[in-house]
Amino acid sequence: MTDWSDTLPGIHDRVWQTLTRGVADRHAPGRHLALATVAPDGAPQVRTVVLRAADRTAATIDIHTDLRSAKIAALTANPLAEALVWDPRAHLQIRLSGPVAILTGNDVAPLWARIPDTARVSYGNTPGPGTPIPGPRDHAPGDGAAVFAVLRMAIARIDALHLGDPHRRAQFVQVDGWAGGWLSP
Ligand SMILES: Cc1cc2nc3c(=O)[nH]c(=O)nc-3n(C[C@H](O)[C@H](O)[C@H](O)COP(=O)(O)O)c2cc1C
Repeated sequence: MTDWSDTLPGIHDRVWQTLTRGVADRHAPGRHLALATVAPDGAPQVRTVVLRAADRTAATIDIHTDLRSAKIAALTANPLAEALVWDPRAHLQIRLSGPVAILTGNDVAPLWARIPDTARVSYGNTPGPGTPIPGPRDHAPGDGAAVFAVLRMAIARIDALHLGDPHRRAQFVQVDGWAGGWLSP
């Protein structure tokens, strides 16, 4: 029987299944991404974020954040980013890379309106993220609406590594219509 990892379309499908499940299921491996950016001083930065949307047709993923966070300055200076998922059960590493657009204001107002109060507290904290404070509790929830931002990556490249027997690695790029090709792992 042909396994999903034996064919390029099989791997490409599996990547999008992992992302789509991550959006829908908070316990799925695709729920969290490690998002890497380059700081204005050239230093790498990586942090955990929640995958909020994955659109295979548009080849985009969405992340929600606070406009005052350091990643915004990084992406403003250099929009290129990479996002990483590791699915241990599937033995699958997924790397997504491409430019990230920062959506704010009216573009995200309908989305903000649908975010429950319990989730809104993640945005708008006072003082802003990364600000030094005297003690661990010296911060409070603020008005998130003004600082809520959606980061939308236009995926240009997908790198998938499957630690099966043998290991397989495939790369898919937007410019060739996601046909994909094999790489030595
Ligand atoms: C499980 C988990 C999920 C997180 N989800 C998000 C998120 O969706 N968006 C976000 O901006 N930060 C999220 N964070 C916080 C970031 O990891 C990071 O600490 C924060 O965004 C500041 O990063 P920056 O200073 O590099 O911008 C999450 C952290 C954890 C541990």
